[in-house]
Amino acid sequence: MLLDVLGLLSACSYALDCVEAELVHVSDKHAKRVAYMSVCMAEQLGISGESLQDLAACALLHDNALTQYIQEELHKDVANVVQASQVGIHCTLGEKNIQRLPFHTDVKNVILYHHENANGSGPFEKTWEEVPLFSRIIHLSDLLDRAYGAKGFTEDIFNKACGYLHKNEGTVVDKECVDAFLRAFPLPHFLTLGEDSFEKNLWEKIPRIKQELSFAQIEELASFFAQIVDYKSPFTNLFCHIMQLYICKKSRQTLLPGLMLFYKVY
Ligand SMILES: [Fe+2]
Ligand SMILES: [Fe+2]
Repeated sequence: MLLDVLGLLSACSYALDCVEAELVHVSDKHAKRVAYMSVCMAEQLGISGESLQDLAACALLHDNALTQYIQEELHKDVANVVQASQVGIHCTLGEKNIQRLPFHTDVKNVILYHHENANGSGPFEKTWEEVPLFSRIIHLSDLLDRAYGAKGFTEDIFNKACGYLHKNEGTVVDKECVDAFLRAFPLPHFLTLGEDSFEKNLWEKIPRIKQELSFAQIEELASFFAQIVDYKSPFTNLFCHIMQLYICKKSRQTLLPGLMLFYKVY
């Protein structure tokens, strides 16, 4: 069965952004902007094709378990986070969740290490040499968007972002990624991050080609959505899981309309 997997994941990331905006105040379209920044940086490092598609999927879903973590561990109180190691909980949950998705390449540990700092001061105390390149790219993009995304992408913010990168090179972010970001985003390109057009540019770089999935892969995809989308409400989460199991057992034909309905809603 042919499915626009990236389109579905993008819709999912938007839904998660809306919840996160309420809980941890990320900026509008945070995950999509992190994906766009990540893809542009990766191109500078010679990454293309299916690897670039997988990077985009990981970036879109880098915080797929954040809502789950806030609900389960913090009981909605984000001020409860006091140690770096606690941040790692949503990385572990998120890494486990995405193992259900049909990636083209090996993305092992990309989500697990997306908060690691270059000098090993992150949640799992890994230095940049021990962390996959995709994690390091997503880490830098995420940091910049969380710090500056809500403030707008102006020349003043550009100067502040460059200053932040130079100041934290080798401690928070690594040189390879800093150089890639600065090459990918000279001022005129940086300014476009505040425009709606960046999303169109993302899909131009990452064509949403439909993937042929087996029924087992579609079932895993449905489980992934059931696992993360309804975490804000235990009732709807349980309902979603039951429905997903029922649909999978009952009919192979009814699963696709269910997924497409989800896609249209978001
Ligand atoms: Fe995160
Ligand atoms: Fe994020």
